[in-house]
Amino acid sequence: MRLVLLGAPGSGKGTQAQRLQARRGVPQVSTGDLLREAVAAGSELGRAAKAVMDAGQLVDDRTMLGIIRERLAKPDAKRGFILDGFPRTLVQADGLAELLVAIGQPLDAVVMLDIDPEVLLARLAGRRSCRRCGRVFHVVSNPPAAQDRCVDGGPHDLFQRPDDNEATVRERLAVYRERTQPLIDYYARKGLLRRIDADGSLDEVDDRLERAIA
Ligand code: AP5
Repeated sequence: MRLVLLGAPGSGKGTQAQRLQARRGVPQVSTGDLLREAVAAGSELGRAAKAVMDAGQLVDDRTMLGIIRERLAKPDAKRGFILDGFPRTLVQADGLAELLVAIGQPLDAVVMLDIDPEVLLARLAGRRSCRRCGRVFHVVSNPPAAQDRCVDGGPHDLFQRPDDNEATVRERLAVYRERTQPLIDYYARKGLLRRIDADGSLDEVDDRLERAIA
């Protein structure tokens, strides 16, 4: 399975990618997570990306295409991938198309997660991620269960992303509308686009996603 999840910040791309990965054994490839790992490691890429991410802007296309090329060359991506947060510009989409032709791994589908902007704000305000295992939670709709343990057997170490403050979220939404929304038509023209309603319980959205890619 080779899939792109498309949608605004907070639409549930990361959550659905993690759940799909658990069900199907196909790796989630999140460019946001890869950049946050680089920031945490203090690498040259991380230092350059941090200011861009904190401002709610996009890291440049050339850098992002390099990251994806490297990630898709890893052995686990041979059995497929779920792209979460990539591509998000037309240049990235064209670069991805070329790369996938070169490695003989065409996309099966692009699923657009449709959601009302008001719901997005509430989701991002309550989002918490685990510093150790990377799982995504929500203080109201998706808190860790009492018996849920992190990879080391202890409780999850939850934190709020620095780009989830209100001003940065508004900027990320504006950047999404301007730079990423054109991909909806781009993939519709290629016959790859499926749209699902991303407002609903996690299980309901799982079902819609499974039906869209069946
Ligand atoms: P990235 O990490 O990709 O952020 P994003 O696209 O803004 O998306 P989010 O992670 O905010 O939201 P999501 O759709 O994954 O929602 P989630 O599942 O967490 O990128 C961050 C930054 O990195 C960018 O701003 C940019 O600077 C840079 N970057 C990354 N990729 C790049 C690229 N390709 N090019 C250039 N720059 C790039 O869900 C949100 C919350 O809602 C969670 O709390 C979750 O528990 C909850 N939730 C989810 N589903 C449901 C549901 N059905 N019901 C109730 N709650 C739900």
